[in-house]
Amino acid sequence: MKDNRVTAGTFHPEQDQEEYTLRPRKLKEFLGQMRLKENLAVFIQAAKQRQESLDHVFFSGPPGLGKTTLAGIIANELGVQFRATSAPALERPGDLAAILTTIGENNVFFIDEIHRLRPIIEEMLYNAMEDFEIDVVMGQGPGARTIKIPLPPFTLVGATTKTGLVSGPLYSRFGITSRLDFYTDEDIESIIHRSAGILTIKLEEAACTMIASRSRGTPRVANRLLRRMRDFAQVWADGLVTAEIVMRGMSSLDIDSLGLDKLDRDILKTVIENYKGGPVGSETLAISIGEAVDTLEDVYEPYLIQKGLIQRTPRGRTATHLAYEHLDLKQRESEDQQLLL
Ligand SMILES: Nc1ncnc2c1ncn2[C@@H]1O[C@H](COP(=O)(O)OP(=O)(O)O)[C@@H](O)[C@H]1O
Ligand SMILES: [Mg+2]
Repeated sequence: MKDNRVTAGTFHPEQDQEEYTLRPRKLKEFLGQMRLKENLAVFIQAAKQRQESLDHVFFSGPPGLGKTTLAGIIANELGVQFRATSAPALERPGDLAAILTTIGENNVFFIDEIHRLRPIIEEMLYNAMEDFEIDVVMGQGPGARTIKIPLPPFTLVGATTKTGLVSGPLYSRFGITSRLDFYTDEDIESIIHRSAGILTIKLEEAACTMIASRSRGTPRVANRLLRRMRDFAQVWADGLVTAEIVMRGMSSLDIDSLGLDKLDRDILKTVIENYKGGPVGSETLAISIGEAVDTLEDVYEPYLIQKGLIQRTPRGRTATHLAYEHLDLKQRESEDQQLLL
C-alpha cells in the first residue's frame, strides 16, 4: 500500500525526472512565502553588492514545502556553485573536510536533515561556519598532530523537519533562519497552474481548485496529485483534467475532501476509538498504526494539527471535535455510497 501513497515524505523514483523539471530555479518562480522571498532577495542582493558570502541560512518545516528548492535557488541567484549533501552521509570528519576543502569562494553548501549530524562533525562545522577554518588530525597515535586548514568564505544552508532537535550552538551560528509553513490554497493553485503549464497538462479551473484543497498546503503533494489526475484523465477520458475526473480520481486514491488519506484517518480513528480521544503518546500511536514515530511526527501530524484535527498536549495527542465530525462525515458518505450500490 505504501507505493500508492501521495504524502510528501514518500519517494517515487519514476517521478524524479519530472520533479526535477518542476523545481523552480529562480526566486520569482518560487510561488508563495512572500515575506521569506522578499527578505531573501534583499540579503542576496546585499551580499552580491559587497562581493561577500551570504550569511548561513537555516530552513525548517514539514517535508515538501520547498527547503531544498530554496537552497538551490539561493546558489542560483548568487551566481555560485551548489554542493549538496545530507547529515547521515557525513559519517567521518574526513567526509566533511573533503567537501569543505574543495568548496569555491562564496559557494553554497547545503546540508539536508541537519539535525542528524554526528557531534564530532557538528563541532568541526562550528569552526568552519564561524572562522572559515577547520582542524584536521593528521596521522595516528602519539605522532598525530592537528593542522588548521583555512577555507574560503562560503554559505552553509541547513534544512530540517525537526527544529527542536537542532542544538543551540549550531542554530545560533545561522544568520538567517526561517520556518516554512503550509501554503494557502491560493498559492497551491498557482503552483498547480505553473506545473500544469510546464508538463502541458490541460486542466479545468474547478479541477485545479479541487486538487489544491486536497494538497495539504504542500507543493510536492500538489505536483504529485496533479500527475495522478493527469493519468486518470488520460486513461478514463480524453486527457483534460475535469472536476469530475478529480472527484473520481481522489476517491480511487482514497483521498478525502481535506486531503486526508487512509493512514491519516487511521491515526484519527485510533486516537478516538482505541484511546477514547486521547491523550495518547506518539510512540504508542505510531506502533498502533504501524508507522515510524519520525514519519508520524514529521509527515502526518503537522497537517492534522494545522487543520485542527488533533492537538499536541504534554501528555500526548488528543482528537478534537473536528476530528469526530470529519470521521462521522466520512462514515456517512460511505454509507450513502453503499446504499447507492
Ligand atoms: N514555492 C514553490 N513554488 C513552486 N514549486 C515549489 C515550491 N516549493 C516547492 N515546490 C515544488 O515542490 C517540490 C518539493 O520541494 P522541496 O524543495 O524538495 O521540499 P523540501 O526540501 O522542503 O522537502 C519541488 O520539487 C518543487 O517542484
Ligand atoms: Mg528537501
